Amino acid sequence: MRKIGILTSGGDCQGLNAAIRGLGKALLCEFGKDIEIYGIEDGYRGLIEGNYHKMKPHDFSGIITLGGTILGTSRQPFKLMRVIDENSGDKVQNMKDNYKKMDLDCLVILGGNGTHKTANLLSEEGLHVVTMPKTIDNDIWGTDITFGFQSAVDVAANVLDCIHTTATSHGRIFIVEVMGHKVGWLTLHAGIAGSADAILLPEIPYTVDSIANVIEQRSKAGKRFSILAVAEGAISKEESQMSKKELKAKRAAENYPSISYRLAKELEDATGHEIRVTVPGHIQRGGAPCPYDRVLSTRFGAAAAHLIKQKKYGFMVAMRNNEIVPVPLSEVAGKLKTVPLDCEVIKTARDIGVSFGD
Ligand code: F6P
Repeated sequence: MRKIGILTSGGDCQGLNAAIRGLGKALLCEFGKDIEIYGIEDGYRGLIEGNYHKMKPHDFSGIITLGGTILGTSRQPFKLMRVIDENSGDKVQNMKDNYKKMDLDCLVILGGNGTHKTANLLSEEGLHVVTMPKTIDNDIWGTDITFGFQSAVDVAANVLDCIHTTATSHGRIFIVEVMGHKVGWLTLHAGIAGSADAILLPEIPYTVDSIANVIEQRSKAGKRFSILAVAEGAISKEESQMSKKELKAKRAAENYPSISYRLAKELEDATGHEIRVTVPGHIQRGGAPCPYDRVLSTRFGAAAAHLIKQKKYGFMVAMRNNEIVPVPLSEVAGKLKTVPLDCEVIKTARDIGVSFGD
């Protein structure tokens, strides 16, 4: 009998349930009655507090299109994992104790960057761990793509499409703020798909003058509107010279809800044009996964089951050159996959005249 635990941790995204389904069905096909699968509730919190339930075969049916996660999730910051406090005690020890109590052979963890740091810690502490890369941000080192990313690109590109019709009708300038945390993958891909005129990424600091110039040049060419796709983590050239502490203090003093609102004000002052801001926010990670993510999540789930069959632990299943491969957790944890400045997608965007505001 094999006993497997599953948990989903960090911000949710499309494809989580498809991945749970892929794993569950592959384990059931492989082991039949010789498998028990436990759903750990609300991410690491469930493992810390001992909240879990035995899953039945029908739990893995009819969920491939379902957004969110049937197991629930929570954010448990890595930096607090080692902090022993009155409420939760020694969190790492609690997780080890509950793993033992459930008598698990392996714990399968679906999550993003912070989640992988804790997964690696648990693996170093001797637990058998296998992970799957989940996030709309696509910023996990070691995999070409994470599930959730492509679905979020679809949503954000659709927002840009919708903004186009109103922007052209009114002859307005629009900023669409795209999620992605500290990296620009989502903004870059959504920006190209949604034909943004300028794309601002955290990896390429911008100047207001450069963006104002894009708007002016378009105006002069008779184009009545401009659309800017701005990553939530975008920074100006001036800010890129600051320390983290200085930047935080500057942003707090400015008191804008997000970077896009400050940029809108600066561009209004610089160009005299009226600027509107649209922030789709968490809509980008809600709803059904796109078919690409359904396939990717299913492949990751089945690959995780294969690792369990081989008793190969301490790995994340990853996509590299369109093949699913295992990558050691120690290589993944603590690294961020940013957009390389010389990548072909950025070159393509520049080739067709998209500005990056630099
Ligand atoms: O990591 C996914 C993500 O949606 C980021 O793009 C975004 O910065 C962050 O999570 C939002 O976090 P929260 O869910 O805590 O609001």
